[in-house]
Amino acid sequence: MRDSRETFVNHAFVTGYPVKHSRSPLIHGYWLKQLGIEGSYRAHEVKPEDFSAFIAELKQGTSGFCGGNVTIPHKEVAHRLADRPDDLCLELGAANTLWIEAGQVHATNTDGRGFVANLDERADRWDHCSTAVVLGAGGASRAVIQAVRDRGVKTIHVVNRTVARAKELSDRFGSTVHAHPMEALGEVMRGAGLFINTTSLGMDGQEAPQIDFTVMASDAVVTDIVYVPLKTPLLRQAEQQGFAIVDGLGMLLHQAVPGFELWFGRRPVVDANLRQLVIDDM
Ligand code: ATR
Repeated sequence: MRDSRETFVNHAFVTGYPVKHSRSPLIHGYWLKQLGIEGSYRAHEVKPEDFSAFIAELKQGTSGFCGGNVTIPHKEVAHRLADRPDDLCLELGAANTLWIEAGQVHATNTDGRGFVANLDERADRWDHCSTAVVLGAGGASRAVIQAVRDRGVKTIHVVNRTVARAKELSDRFGSTVHAHPMEALGEVMRGAGLFINTTSLGMDGQEAPQIDFTVMASDAVVTDIVYVPLKTPLLRQAEQQGFAIVDGLGMLLHQAVPGFELWFGRRPVVDANLRQLVIDDM
């Protein structure tokens, strides 16, 4: 039996390879301090070839961790190795949050929840639109499409340089999602209420393509999941053309909330000071 005077301290991790760039320790460290919780959250680098051994240690309880976040390149493997992946991460084929219960590793994916929580906070009634345009078809795009579809957006046009990747997403998500080449962007944007950039377009030293946002609904919202810089080249263009914009930093902050609650038992709040802390760290 547990001694009632014994204190239990939970330790959580973020693992990736590399993982030095992760801002998650800053975010969770802020909440631990703010809520006065005696626990820890730290970066724990694991090479791809060592990842299954790391998961085995988690299951055996020898790692010292109660759970944590998983980032590139371990997200897909993590969802496969977990004993209890939830429906969200099974559908996505990737996990970003793990926790241990009775010797079993549970897994979920909070990226989509983070994405919609950010829009809910910053764009009133964004989900009243019936058509969304998603630029890009990578892993991040997948989580965003799932979340937007689950919020009831009826038509999602995915536009990507490599059309085959967009097609994979339309096959995965069914009739809601339509795949298009870049040339079709202007056409599919016509009348749409939400534009989501999930690519690094215009940030790799190349000039951003000029996009005519004015073909969208006049109350359309333009958002980007990239948050460095805070105002990406595409967001700047949309703002100059008079559209409401939402930067991607809030997605990073909000996707961290469910994990913190699982590991440390309190629901943290995304506040302005946290946002500023991460901006100052950029
Ligand atoms: P993530 O998991 O972060 O989404 P990713 O899987 O590498 O990362 O996907 C990056 C996305 O940005 C892809 O949609 C990619 O297009 P391709 O599928 O054609 O590679 C897109 N992307 C990156 N650089 C681009 C560029 N210069 N022009 C157009 N699309 C670009």
